[in-house]
Amino acid sequence: HFLKNAHGPLKGRRILVTAGPTVEPIDPVRFIANRSSGKQGYAIAEALRNHGAEVILVTGPTHEKIPAGIEVKQVQSAREMMEASNAALPLDCAVCCAAVADYRPEIETTHKIKKERGGLTNIPLTENPDILKTLSQMKEGRPRLVVGFAAETDDVLGHAEAKRNRKGCDWIVANDVSPGEHCAMGGDRNSIILITDKGDEAWPEMSKADVARKLADSIAEALRGPTL
Ligand code: CTP
Ligand code: CA
Repeated sequence: HFLKNAHGPLKGRRILVTAGPTVEPIDPVRFIANRSSGKQGYAIAEALRNHGAEVILVTGPTHEKIPAGIEVKQVQSAREMMEASNAALPLDCAVCCAAVADYRPEIETTHKIKKERGGLTNIPLTENPDILKTLSQMKEGRPRLVVGFAAETDDVLGHAEAKRNRKGCDWIVANDVSPGEHCAMGGDRNSIILITDKGDEAWPEMSKADVARKLADSIAEALRGPTL
């Protein structure tokens, strides 16, 4: 493709990025979703493309522009995101940035629920598939490098390290989403801690585009050498 860097360090690598929220319908007018602008995920997809990777971006609804030179799959629900992610295999690397809704309404009705009948005070929920965990724990054909995100408050590093172990991913990009002037949610800047098997690395606050470039550099470094 014209935008692909034919000599980039990620040339020939196939990389999945999940981004944005997922949206879980309750009825034709209502849904449950997570908060996510998609900005960091889209920036990462573009930075990987600029390094020459073949990028598949599986995205929930966002206000971001569809990037050129990237294969984009637009989805709504976590189940659709899981399916599109599986369909992207085999992969050298997966970067799961999406803010996936943990639960969905057990029953999606095509009839609008009327509040005077009290149908909205108790919505039975069921757990969604975990894309990061599924990819991380594949027995065969697992992507060589699986990267997850952890948006946390309070003990950010503690929660994120526990999450890395629980999910079985290789790296976690952790950020503090406590409300405040430096909060990354929705904004253009981010301050993260990269947790790898080599330890924790706190990056100074920078733009989401710079976080994306630095992460793409780290991914290129980790994927150096022949594809297995
Ligand atoms: N993730 C995913 N599929 C899910 C839930 C999460 O792929 N159903 C991924 C996210 O894209 C992110 C990572 O898992 O990379 C961490 O998500 P997070 O919501 O922080 O973790 P959970 O295990 O859902 O724990 P909790 O929300 O309770 O903190
Ligand atoms: Ca979650």
